[in-house]
Amino acid sequence: MNIQFLQLQTHGDDRGSLISLEEGKNIPFQVKRVYYMFDTGQGVKRGYHAHKSLKQVAVAVRGSCRFLLDDGKEKIDFRLDNPCQGLLIESFVWRVMYDFSPDCVLMVLADSLYDEADYVRDYATFQSMVNP
Ligand code: TYD
Repeated sequence: MNIQFLQLQTHGDDRGSLISLEEGKNIPFQVKRVYYMFDTGQGVKRGYHAHKSLKQVAVAVRGSCRFLLDDGKEKIDFRLDNPCQGLLIESFVWRVMYDFSPDCVLMVLADSLYDEADYVRDYATFQSMVNP
């Protein structure tokens, strides 16, 4: 699957912890956009799309949520719950985010500006694109 877990180096001392995200260093692309989801309601599921070319890194900077990822061949389901861990998702991976903890802040860095034309929002269309 077109994903990777990134271990983000923590600069910790007796004051606490700090993580820096830098393009070309621990973020393997040019960062054009950052967005974050928070105050996600109980039972809400988000996503239900793939991207044609977008690369993204997601970090649960606070709290946790589950990811269900699907590339048309395999599905993986896991919890993202560590601010020291980044999840790199590249193109043509269908994603659903769910089971957000009430305190979850899910931050996403992206290599492009928001572009609705890059989205595949219909699962049958996604399937036909990855398994032609
Ligand atoms: P949406 O695509 O529904 O989020 P998700 O699929 O990840 O659950 O986005 C919610 C709204 O926010 C929608 O109106 C589009 C808008 N939006 C932006 O304007 N810029 C962005 O970078 C993103 C990710 C969404």
